[in-house]
Amino acid sequence: MLAVGLQGSPRKGGNNSHTLGLFLERLKSKGFETITLPAPQLKFAFCIGCGSCEKTGWCVFNDDYALKIAPILRRAEVIVMASPVYFYGPSAQLKAVMDRGQMFWSRKYRLKLSDPLKKRRRGYILSSAATSGDDLFSSFILNSRYFFDAIDAAYCGALTFRRAEGKGALASRSDTEKRVYTAADVAAAPFLPCKGRILFVCRDGAIKSRMAWAMATTIAPSNLWISHAGTDPQVPLKAPCDSWMEIRKTDLRYIPVHTLNERLETFSPNLIVDMDGSLSDHATVHADITWNLPALPPENDDETKALARQVEARVKKLIASLKGNDLSHNNHDTPSRIDTP
Ligand SMILES: Cc1cc2nc3c(=O)[nH]c(=O)nc-3n(C[C@H](O)[C@H](O)[C@H](O)COP(=O)(O)O)c2cc1C
Repeated sequence: MLAVGLQGSPRKGGNNSHTLGLFLERLKSKGFETITLPAPQLKFAFCIGCGSCEKTGWCVFNDDYALKIAPILRRAEVIVMASPVYFYGPSAQLKAVMDRGQMFWSRKYRLKLSDPLKKRRRGYILSSAATSGDDLFSSFILNSRYFFDAIDAAYCGALTFRRAEGKGALASRSDTEKRVYTAADVAAAPFLPCKGRILFVCRDGAIKSRMAWAMATTIAPSNLWISHAGTDPQVPLKAPCDSWMEIRKTDLRYIPVHTLNERLETFSPNLIVDMDGSLSDHATVHADITWNLPALPPENDDETKALARQVEARVKKLIASLKGNDLSHNNHDTPSRIDTP
């Protein structure tokens, strides 16, 4: 479960970096993995309105947005944007992040691709301003709501601070922490309490486990946390899998291939599903459920389609079998008593 903070203020250690830090700290304490993306420090081009993404689904720029911001936004369940009010709007740096989101708008509305996290992702806003005008935050909130729609995040609120001018203005207010923690709890509510963390593992980490992740996140309740990994990751297999999933209108383009060890650093599964026997001789990681899907990647479209059907059937059965179960106390080394498909 990933919470990402988009920091819009160029002032290091200022009000929004303080509130964003508290917000993410709260989510981390609830088990979320957290990442901060400081827009002013990242190097990316402004959207130039060339229309390329509307035709191809890709942006023409291969910069920090494409390599760092987009992949992280795409795998985040919670996105919180923090910005000072600059002339009654968000900072230019944060607005530039939103404008580059046109690529996601195109993927959703022009190419009709479906983001597997679209029913889960939530968006929240933090903002501060020096004065106390009525409409101080209206523009930022309106921009954000359209941006959140493009990236498939349900808008779930804004916490705003007036009369906060100096750098430490909010850090010195006694109620700031409580207000931010309450806001973070609102953003995280559907994910908590976590009823279990499922990890899908396959050998290449590029095809079956990413398909299973996409299918499971689409149908499982938000309080079942789901991830994926490969024992022997094969990144070159990612692109053909993404292309094929796009034919099914599922958008996996920015979902990375995770190595098993790297994934276990931030995700502690209660239930490990070994999709193709890749864990059978693993020294330290043991599966709770083993499926017998083919270990080798499919060689053509027909094989891929057949594989996807098999993955989908098993995922549906698994998620249905977990209904009402609380796995959160399971240790994945303990054999599961779940009726496995
Ligand atoms: C370029 C600029 C424009 C600003 N415009 C406004 C404004 O329109 N209304 C307002 O109340 N404060 C405005 N402010 C003040 C900031 O919004 C305020 O100090 C904020 O708390 C700074 O947050 P930070 O510490 O996270 O950077 C502006 C500040 C700057 C530098």
